[in-house]
Amino acid sequence: MRVGVLVSGRGSNLRALIDACAAADFPAEIALVLSNKPDAAALEHAASAGLPTAVVDHRDFPGDKQRFEEAMDEALRGAGVQLVCLAGFMRLLSPWFVDAWHDRMINIHPSLLPSFKGLDTHKRAIEAGVRFHGCTVHYVRLEMDEGPIVAQAAVPVLPDDDADSLAGRVLEAEHRLYPLAIRLIGEGRTRIRDGRVLVDGPLPAPPPVTNPAC
Ligand code: GAR
Repeated sequence: MRVGVLVSGRGSNLRALIDACAAADFPAEIALVLSNKPDAAALEHAASAGLPTAVVDHRDFPGDKQRFEEAMDEALRGAGVQLVCLAGFMRLLSPWFVDAWHDRMINIHPSLLPSFKGLDTHKRAIEAGVRFHGCTVHYVRLEMDEGPIVAQAAVPVLPDDDADSLAGRVLEAEHRLYPLAIRLIGEGRTRIRDGRVLVDGPLPAPPPVTNPAC
């Protein structure tokens, strides 16, 4: 499966995907890393891994989001991309683009959706007093941070956490979760039915956990 990774910044999830793709049995390869920011660190990670990169800078299309997205669409199709993976891509996508990649575009979000959509998820999780937080990989739909959930990872919120320490714990989980979700899709094991993702084949059941532990 040819994957296009859309990035805007640091690119740690991209690095996790690059590492995952190095395994001989991983069912996906990165066909293009596409950034809307020319100075994104993610582009350097891609270049050092020898991956094709492209920049479509939203600032080159002032007031014309349609043309910005058409340029991204063209780059993705030109690279033969079959699945678009948003990995810290920080622009909201228009309905036409989301429709054009319906069921072929996924996102990773740093919360256990549907809780804490949007920004500042770690700070809001601490303020809400939840005992577990985490991350979600989901298919992209018209509404922000909505869509059928492929996989989630939970991490505990600890008494001394601040937003940074919690973000670090969630990010480690993201780096395991995104490759897992892409593996399931690449192996053809996922089907979307009635807004839910069904996974074929055996899946180990994780143990139940409490926080505080008992
Ligand atoms: C990740 O935590 C990702 O979940 C988040 O941006 C970060 C990107 O980090 N995405 C969103 O908040 C999208 N709503 P990275 O550039 O190091 O992968």
